[in-house]
Amino acid sequence: MACAPLSLLYSPKTMSRKKALLLLLLAFSTGTLLLRQSAHLGWFPKSPSFSCAPLLSLRPKHTAVAFLKTHKTASTTVQNILFRFAERHNLTVALPHHACDHQFCYPRNFSARFVHPYTLPPRFIASHLRFNREELHRLMPNDTIYVTILREPVTMFESLFSYYNQYCPTFKRVPNGSMEAFLDNPHRYYRPHEKFAMYARNTLVYDLGGDPEHSPGDPMYLPEFIHQVESIFSLVMLAEYFDESLVLLRHLLAWDLDDILYVKLNMRSPESKLNITSARLAAQIRTWNALDARLYDHFNATFWRKLNEVGRDCVQKEVHALQRACERLAHRCFRGQPQLRPAIQIKNKELRPWQPSAKVDIVGYDLPGSGPPLDEQCLKLVMPEVQYSRYLLRKQSLRNRRRAAPHRPLPPRGLLRPPRHPVPKVA
Ligand SMILES: *[C@@H]1O[C@H](CO)[C@@H](O)[C@H](O)[C@H]1NC(C)=O
Ligand SMILES: *[C@@H]1O[C@H](CO)[C@@H](O)[C@H](O)[C@H]1NC(C)=O
Ligand SMILES: *[C@@H]1O[C@H](CO)[C@@H](O)[C@H](O)[C@H]1NC(C)=O
Ligand SMILES: *[C@@H]1O[C@H](CO)[C@@H](O)[C@H](O)[C@H]1NC(C)=O
Ligand SMILES: *[C@@H]1O[C@H](CO)[C@@H](O)[C@H](O)[C@H]1NC(C)=O
Ligand SMILES: *[C@@H]1O[C@H](CO)[C@@H](O)[C@H](O)[C@H]1NC(C)=O
Repeated sequence: MACAPLSLLYSPKTMSRKKALLLLLLAFSTGTLLLRQSAHLGWFPKSPSFSCAPLLSLRPKHTAVAFLKTHKTASTTVQNILFRFAERHNLTVALPHHACDHQFCYPRNFSARFVHPYTLPPRFIASHLRFNREELHRLMPNDTIYVTILREPVTMFESLFSYYNQYCPTFKRVPNGSMEAFLDNPHRYYRPHEKFAMYARNTLVYDLGGDPEHSPGDPMYLPEFIHQVESIFSLVMLAEYFDESLVLLRHLLAWDLDDILYVKLNMRSPESKLNITSARLAAQIRTWNALDARLYDHFNATFWRKLNEVGRDCVQKEVHALQRACERLAHRCFRGQPQLRPAIQIKNKELRPWQPSAKVDIVGYDLPGSGPPLDEQCLKLVMPEVQYSRYLLRKQSLRNRRRAAPHRPLPPRGLLRPPRHPVPKVA
């Protein structure tokens, strides 16, 4: 597959009208052919597929997924996997309206009105939102499979505390940004109803549409809430067992091993992490986030039951196959390991991850500086959330506007820019 140099891919503003027209024509004439074949072509040599469920490949791949993207749970990596799958299979991804930023107006309760009209009707949804069952049912097709991911509350809270330290007023009030000081007397700093309070307590329950302020002493609340979650979500993945979770996801959706390859995204540098080694601190975090802690424990137990049902040894074998395939992909894409870098050192600004504050360093990937230009699929593999969302919105807008108005090959200038990457490219 031929690739334009990166400088061309990333300079939409300098693109002349002529160029854009040419691009559109190219896209139009080759698009159909490529799109029809893309799902089968595969950009990478197909991984030798060991599978715990050999009959899986006989089932058609499931192509309607609602992924509830929770905060600080490795969910950006899952989102990237889903975005790439949807793009490869020409499936529409619901994306936020401009007014909502790159999240669905989070922390507001999700509403179908937050969805950009050019991304309707969707088959996938994977951006941050606060779960709202009715509105998602209204938006998504009726064969949608619901999936989410949780993380163990102690490390998750540490991550929230440092990631949002300049964002969430609760954390900003804490002297010296000391987590110990906060946990010794959280009510001194925490105001339940102020802006971004949901990052400070029971964030998982909040994201899932529950009440993070509910008294943990109420014996009725959490079991009922868990029951609701279980009745909607077919799979609750866990960040601690990420690869195992992906194997379960693949089984659920009847996807190939090649559909779940990834590199980790949106991580902090090791220096930005506090290492919680004190049992007292860990206990305080669990007490403060008691609802999340019990929610996690429940789903950790069901997760291991699921693994046992599939067969732990077998899952382990698939995990190894997945890890080897990810390494091969990284080697092919980045001529070795992808290079983790602090954002400011990443030359290509389209690959710079969003930085929550000067105190936290979110690392991203830089691409090898020499050699032939990178395959577009490799680029997507390391593209941060904000940029990938923006890119997908442009691409889908172009497609869906054309579908809506077939006699208007070029949308009015300014209203809509063509995707930054010439989308379908042929050798
Ligand atoms: C891709 O999407 C476009 C627009 O929605 C549609 O016209 C086309 O048939 C789709 N192609 C495939 C292979 O699904
Ligand atoms: C948002 O959802 C929660 C939980 O379902 C509900 O209690 C609350 O009233 C909703 N808020 C608004 C503004 O609708
Ligand atoms: C799902 O939607 C399709 C078309 O929208 C409809 O024909 C079908 O009966 C629905 N299935 C269920 C189980 O509701
Ligand atoms: C904050 O840090 C400074 C210097 O490290 C120290 O002198 C001060 O006592 C700390 N304040 C609190 C409230 O811990
Ligand atoms: C936490 O641990 C990691 C790995 O053990 C280390 O690289 C990092 O510097 C530590 N962070 C702090 C703040 O001590
Ligand atoms: C999850 O459950 C397993 C099996 O009971 C246990 O060994 C493990 O420590 C739990 N993980 C976490 C992060 O709590």
